[in-house]
Amino acid sequence: MSDILAELEARRAAARAGGGEKRIAAQHAKGKLTARERIELLMDEGSFEEFDMFVKHRTTDFGMGENRPDGDGVVTGWGTINGRMAYVFSQDFTVFGGSLSETHAQKICKIMDMAMQNGAPVIGLNDSGGARIQEGVASLAGYADVFQRNIMASGVVPQISVIMGPCAGGAVYSPAMTDFIFMVKDSSYMFVTGPDVVKTVTNEVITAEELGGASTHTKKSSVADGAFENDVEAIAEIRRLFDFLPLNNREKAPVRPFFDSPERVEHSLDTLIPKNPNQPYDMKELILKVADEGDFYEIQGDFAANIITGFIRLEGQTIGVVGNQPMVLAGVLDIDSSRKAARFVRFCDAFEIPILTFVDVPGFLPGTAQEYGGVIKHGAKLLFAYGEATVPKVTVITRKAYGGAYDVMASKHLRGDFNYAWPTAQIAVMGAKGATEILYRAELDDPEKIAARTAEYETNFANPFRAAERGFIDEVIMPHSTRRRVSRAFASLRTKQLSNPWKKHDNIPL
Ligand code: HXC
Repeated sequence: MSDILAELEARRAAARAGGGEKRIAAQHAKGKLTARERIELLMDEGSFEEFDMFVKHRTTDFGMGENRPDGDGVVTGWGTINGRMAYVFSQDFTVFGGSLSETHAQKICKIMDMAMQNGAPVIGLNDSGGARIQEGVASLAGYADVFQRNIMASGVVPQISVIMGPCAGGAVYSPAMTDFIFMVKDSSYMFVTGPDVVKTVTNEVITAEELGGASTHTKKSSVADGAFENDVEAIAEIRRLFDFLPLNNREKAPVRPFFDSPERVEHSLDTLIPKNPNQPYDMKELILKVADEGDFYEIQGDFAANIITGFIRLEGQTIGVVGNQPMVLAGVLDIDSSRKAARFVRFCDAFEIPILTFVDVPGFLPGTAQEYGGVIKHGAKLLFAYGEATVPKVTVITRKAYGGAYDVMASKHLRGDFNYAWPTAQIAVMGAKGATEILYRAELDDPEKIAARTAEYETNFANPFRAAERGFIDEVIMPHSTRRRVSRAFASLRTKQLSNPWKKHDNIPL
């Protein structure tokens, strides 16, 4: 008996050794942790249960029959993160470069199926050279099996991808269909075709880092939602994000203990808005001052910074926050910011996370670049996302809410539950200068007359009371009481019930 037990231990040890000491040392030399070290950091201590440790590939081509390592290049299983269940796969670059074979894919599919059945998130730690070249179409089929599961799981359980090494070819499309993608700076990259193919086809000479590194995908392409300095920081931040999220679409996000009174007033907010309407201020200051303990988890912080998206908690409950940022492009809505916020709003709605919107928006960005780029369709994404969302929606207009952008930003008309405005709000079709120049074109050569017209417009329209008169604004609130007011609003909406008409699915302008 003891021999058999010892054999199991020996087999386990061999499987855990992955591609061997030399390759593990090479992995470490690149500043990367191994697949198992990453899981150890991600999961609560001692909570990880592995599946399929002894699965081997079945290929015999290219002499592969003599090289069949246990586990086949991916570690899969489940465990807990701060006590809540999650499924994980972690690709082992030391075994065939983490490349995806038929059996490797089957292991991933198994835990995805379990995650769906049991209602828990899937976290993928990607570090792979893509399709296992020796397996040909069997490997492509394996990818497609994973893709299909990504699609079925979308909106059912949260899916998080962390790119911790190369991620090339079709391999990028599984992460692309998950809810969040995070990268590790200087050691991860994603592209459909690598630098060599790019050079052959387009004659461009470019490094892997420039083509698909963390900076490219967090700042330019917006494929990734965030980037971290190293593996350890990335995993710690995934644990932090996980705590904001529900396990599945039928459960609420966890309620964390909080030590910050919902009654807290912030008198400094009474002077946040500058006297000059063209002067910027930092919308993040408002978000941080409203959030429990000032804790804010930003999503896509490096992309389209004219809109801010992320998670906070109010009375311990997760809230998705969207805010125009006057510090960047005056907080204007454009293609990038509309797409960014629309995706975030849809994630929140899919997973029953209430949405808090802070509005200071001068309108949509004019110009040929925007029109040719399809700002109409992209702007409509955000409009559509807010309008279809049935989660509790609380909106606070701090300053400008002009034109179509007023409608878009979770207005009353898009089923906003609580629509508040600060006394500094200006809700109008456009700013005073633009309006008077159009209405009083004939008087444009008389600066005095125009100044008087502008002042008149400001008095009449640059305030929240016209909208409040009609009930489009439920209440004009003191800036210092924002935390208290929005906390109470969300508390009153915890029993909200609202559903959309039956449909197979909608046809959001993609
Ligand atoms: C089999 C692979 C592999 C692959 C790497 N290896 N990629 N084995 N299939 N796709 C093996 C290497 O042979 C090597 O084995 C070990 O992994 C480490 O690889 P290195 O090249 O030594 O490492 P490095 O220099 O760090 O380069 C990593 C790399 C490079 C950039 C990922 O290996 C690479 O370019 N690989 C091929 C990438 C690729 O073209 N994949 C197919 C994409 S097409 P030894 O034994 O020497 O340690 C695709 C289609 C999917 O994915 C479509 C789905 C719809």
